[in-house]
Amino acid sequence: MAIKMRRLSNALGAEIRDVDISKPMSESTFGSIHRIFLDHGILLLRNQNVTREQHIEFSRRFGELDKHDALPRDRHPDYPELLLVTNRPNPDGTPSESRYTGRLWHTDLSYTTHPALGSLLRCFNLPEVGGDTLFANMAMAYDALSAGMKKLIADLHGIHLSGTRQINNQEAGTARQAEVMRLNPPIAQPVVRAHPETGRKALYLGEKVKRFDGMTEDESRPLIDYLNKHATRPEFVYRHQWRENDIIVWDNRCTMHQALADFDETQLRHLERTTVMGTPSGYVVTA
Ligand code: SIN
Repeated sequence: MAIKMRRLSNALGAEIRDVDISKPMSESTFGSIHRIFLDHGILLLRNQNVTREQHIEFSRRFGELDKHDALPRDRHPDYPELLLVTNRPNPDGTPSESRYTGRLWHTDLSYTTHPALGSLLRCFNLPEVGGDTLFANMAMAYDALSAGMKKLIADLHGIHLSGTRQINNQEAGTARQAEVMRLNPPIAQPVVRAHPETGRKALYLGEKVKRFDGMTEDESRPLIDYLNKHATRPEFVYRHQWRENDIIVWDNRCTMHQALADFDETQLRHLERTTVMGTPSGYVVTA
């Protein structure tokens, strides 16, 4: 079957049309979809009114799924493969602990030694306006750096922290943050990673990076800030305006993303994510 697609932006992203992931899909059709995923960094599938089992089943075609041991409080109670990203209050009326998920530029599970290959986020409920997500093409950002900068960063490792909501103070001191930080010690990851399937080099950074291994925070901060600012220039970014039953699949090895607080937080925003496990990367360090 020929796959119909349209690009989402100049930087990254492709919408796949006329595909229903709840229906059986041949290896060859999935192979074509996977090729588009590798070429464009993110896939958009609209109108996927699927069950949780179907979401999980389709996700498995991209690889083994994470059971979210790094974020146990955000797991769906019946499906460990699903991570809740929701501001729906808990049954006892307390606020959802995952309501601020993804509010910093990041790639999934970068603060573990098995950072994610990909993620498939499905949208259930949206606020009246906003609740958008930004995606940045980190390979394009890397390519645009000067030869001198590429040489400077070639061997650097950035130290990725879990529980980094302390940076914007939204969740500082909560039990959830303490647990996430206890479960996930700081991990040094290469600042430049070659994509295991395409071989293309990409920046691997984000706002969870505190400093470079072997350097102080003061020494590291200007370069971290420069690289994050560079990578999130508008020409490297796609902004997704969600619709109910959208599924976005992103490649964490060459993109990063950020959930925006651009909506009325009294309105429901509920999404569920599967996370595809990637190849081992990084090493444990002290913060
Ligand atoms: C995430 O970072 O997994 C969530 C992104 C979003 O809610 O838009």
